[in-house]
Amino acid sequence: MGNLRAVITGVGHYVPDYILTNDELSSMVDTSDEWIMTRIGIKTRHILKGVGKGSSDMGAEAVKQLLEKTHTNPEEVDLVVCCTVTPDMLFPGTGAIICDKVGITNAFSFDLNAGCSSFLYGLSVASKFVETGRYKKVVLVGADKMSAITDYQDRATCPIFGDASAAVMLEPTTEYLGILDEELKTDGVGRTHLYQKAGGSVKPPTHDTIDAREHYVYQEGQIVFKWAVAKMADTACEVMQRNHLDPNTTWLAPHQANLRIIDAVGRRMNIDPSRVMINIEKYGNTTSATVPLLFAEWEQLLKKGDDIIVATFGAGFTWGAMWIKWGY
Ligand code: UT7
Repeated sequence: MGNLRAVITGVGHYVPDYILTNDELSSMVDTSDEWIMTRIGIKTRHILKGVGKGSSDMGAEAVKQLLEKTHTNPEEVDLVVCCTVTPDMLFPGTGAIICDKVGITNAFSFDLNAGCSSFLYGLSVASKFVETGRYKKVVLVGADKMSAITDYQDRATCPIFGDASAAVMLEPTTEYLGILDEELKTDGVGRTHLYQKAGGSVKPPTHDTIDAREHYVYQEGQIVFKWAVAKMADTACEVMQRNHLDPNTTWLAPHQANLRIIDAVGRRMNIDPSRVMINIEKYGNTTSATVPLLFAEWEQLLKKGDDIIVATFGAGFTWGAMWIKWGY
């Protein structure tokens, strides 16, 4: 049991149909395609439309695809960890709702919220269950309907976010594959720079909080930007160097918050630019879904044994980096 590692054995994903363009955003707030492309690097983002639709609907689609692709019967799944900052509701957990929608009946499930680092932390947490040998099929799903907490009257934040979900299967292996090293960090000093002001226990919803538009993402962009570049690059370089990974052959799967942040982290790591996974232009920042959405899109290019560094930064502040050897 002591030598078991957790390896990713499949990926599924789901993005909603509706595409919100920079031109449409420019008709809603005072912005332009040129500003958004230059400052953030986003052209389009997908938005989940429909009354009564939430993160679990996207999560369920991603998990269904994952189970099909990995030829897994829903009853075989042991654990579902759902990473989200936009749960369907405060309780029950969105993972429980996804299990119900997919027909996963023999698993236990819980949600994990670490801002935009949720999926990275989730990989760490889920891998520990697998490494014990007790849990054989663990589903880790990132699902965020960011449009539910995005203020489409605030030009500083509304171009950034999109809706999506993606999921991975983690299974035990004795091969030298899977999750091999990590460096995860939190500093709560960041909690006033990126947060939702109302709707939690400190400030429950009232007419005043709604009038003050406090149920949306609040972000002090420049402060978050500086922290994100420094901390993602520091931890990614540390994990890469202490494991003697070659920057010419290692992939970088960075959280997709801003193309300038991604470029800066890639440069600090000296990674071959063709091995930096980037899809922010199409999807924007989908929070818990960015990293597994990269895996889904790069799945065909990845080969068994490829080295990947995952690096993220998010609300909290939370950040970190992980070394993964791709499993198939
Ligand atoms: O995922 C979790 C982690 N989050 C992040 O990593 C996000 C980090 N931050 C960022 O990506 C960037 O700070 C933003 C994209 C949020 C903002 O970009 P910025 O280059 O830092 O812009 P800024 O906030 O410094 O604003 C520059 C100017 C301001 O105008 P003045 O004061 O110079 O006249 C803003 O009012 O750009 C203006 N501005 C806009 N103009 C057109 C802000 N938003 C817009 C907009 N369109 N959408």
